[in-house]
Amino acid sequence: MRQFNVVVLGAGGVGKSALTVRFIRDVFVETYDPTIEEEYRRTVSVDGQLSSLEVLDTAGAEHFTSLNEVYIKSGRGFVLVFSLTQEASLREVDNLRQQIYRIKGGDTNVPIVVVGTKLDLVNEREVQRNTIQSLASRWDLPFYETSAKRNWHVNDVFEDLLRQMRLR
Ligand code: GTP
Ligand code: MG
Repeated sequence: MRQFNVVVLGAGGVGKSALTVRFIRDVFVETYDPTIEEEYRRTVSVDGQLSSLEVLDTAGAEHFTSLNEVYIKSGRGFVLVFSLTQEASLREVDNLRQQIYRIKGGDTNVPIVVVGTKLDLVNEREVQRNTIQSLASRWDLPFYETSAKRNWHVNDVFEDLLRQMRLR
């Protein structure tokens, strides 16, 4: 079975852990407990092929982001997470995206998926679909709007990334 490692990055509190834990254990983490670093593993079947995914859930808090460089160096695929309820968190995705390309030596084929979380919080939404759509097309990256709470499109994120990683 092939193994792939994935790093989940994004600003603090955007829902990286909730997304990761929904994917790994199929439960929703309601309480906010800021992450330091957490590693998970899961076997997934995509297109009839089994793969082992190692998912590294990272800290969004500013004082930990010095570690991002280490994570990016060792990561094969990346989930860049922002919250649909927090416009500012989208800027961090752009920063991370540029940092990844810089660290990976300008390789623009790095497997990346952009994820907007908290899709269920309709009344708190700040980032419109066309905003993220046009950004993602400028970046030439796939994006998904998800809800870890409702389990909307969470698996799609990791399946997309897995397909990209397999082709490399
Ligand atoms: P750091 O580890 O500090 O970087 O934060 P994080 O990005 O891991 O955020 P976390 O997953 O801990 O989520 C922060 C808060 O948002 C928690 O209270 C979650 O329950 C909530 N949350 C995350 N995803 C969703 C979602 O899809 N819908 C709703 N309604 N709440 C969510
Ligand atoms: Mg977390």
